[in-house]
Amino acid sequence: MIELAVFGAGRIGHVHALNAAAHPSVRLKYIVDPVPSEAHERLAAETGADMVDTEMVFSDADISGVVIASSTDTHAELLLRAAESGKAVFCEKPVSLDFATVARVSRVVEEAGIACLLGFQRRYDPNFRFVRDRIVSGQAGALEHIVMHTRDPSPPPRAYVERSGGMFRDQAIHDFDMARYLLGEEIATVYAAGNSLIDPEIAAAGDIDTAMITLTSVSGRFVQMINCRRAPFGYDQRLEALCSREVLYVENRPQRGVMIADAEGFHSSTPMNYFIERFADAYRAEMHAFVDMIETGAKPLAGIRDGLEAQRIAEAAIVSMKTGTAVHITPDWNP
Ligand SMILES: NC(=O)c1ccc[n+]([C@@H]2O[C@H](COP(=O)([O-])OP(=O)(O)OC[C@H]3O[C@@H](n4cnc5c(N)ncnc54)[C@H](O)[C@@H]3O)[C@@H](O)[C@H]2O)c1
Repeated sequence: MIELAVFGAGRIGHVHALNAAAHPSVRLKYIVDPVPSEAHERLAAETGADMVDTEMVFSDADISGVVIASSTDTHAELLLRAAESGKAVFCEKPVSLDFATVARVSRVVEEAGIACLLGFQRRYDPNFRFVRDRIVSGQAGALEHIVMHTRDPSPPPRAYVERSGGMFRDQAIHDFDMARYLLGEEIATVYAAGNSLIDPEIAAAGDIDTAMITLTSVSGRFVQMINCRRAPFGYDQRLEALCSREVLYVENRPQRGVMIADAEGFHSSTPMNYFIERFADAYRAEMHAFVDMIETGAKPLAGIRDGLEAQRIAEAAIVSMKTGTAVHITPDWNP
């Protein structure tokens, strides 16, 4: 059995703790969360884990991997602790809101040589994976451009926005990562326009809720991203990839797989509610990949370098939006 610890028992920590405990090769030994709550105690009881502090995890030589699902401002320090103690790590995005810290921590993690999976779960979603595999196999022909829609069901509360690092680092980072994953090359130019059109509280917190972002890859291919904090029907998470022989569409996944037709028309259900539901398969697959990394040394679909490169694009998008000009990225570009 592999013994794991999960940091953070909030929204995503809850998902990862349950997936770890359900894995047949895992004993979830510890959960760490400094904020006492009944929900955390229930999660510990359900998973059979002990609630402990950070020191306990890193001083236990039997713990071979840690899942960092705590608040963003704790990721960098916990990654450094994992690198120092030689434990494998599955870390949620983003590594830090400060780009210099992301770059420094990435270097340390790479030099330490620990196994590291970064939480870009869309790479583990069966539909996005299908698109990637079909492009890589050559069946779809040459990929020429991608259009992505990411719209949350409703704007997050102001307190969340204030700690999030802004929509590009918090939400659009998944799309920046998907762009690199499907293109199979780096982004060379970013042009971003953003505004707060939905919620004055978001503007008051200094963030945007609506953005149009155009990326150009090193070889000159395009990605158009539409990012928004609201969709009146729920979670909107779609992609189309235009290739020379095929167009590949990832559609929203309906809550009900049955369409009802009557004299008024055809009625389908609304899409799966939000990321926890929509990406449930992907989060499970991520946990399996993490265990595989520890057991067999298999490479993850997303590692620490992918976290760094997606964040470089997010930082360039912020600069572009502020200056109103396209930003050219080189491998060592930083904000
Ligand atoms: N990949 C995804 O789909 C996805 C989805 C949601 C959140 N996230 C990321 O996961 C992280 C957590 O987000 P969330 O929405 O679950 O937040 P959350 O606020 O619901 O939970 C965070 C938890 O971390 C705890 N915490 C704070 N400091 C800690 C520490 N030092 N050690 C252990 N626990 C600590 C908090 O008490 C809280 O319970 C964020 O970085 C976020 O960007 C990723």
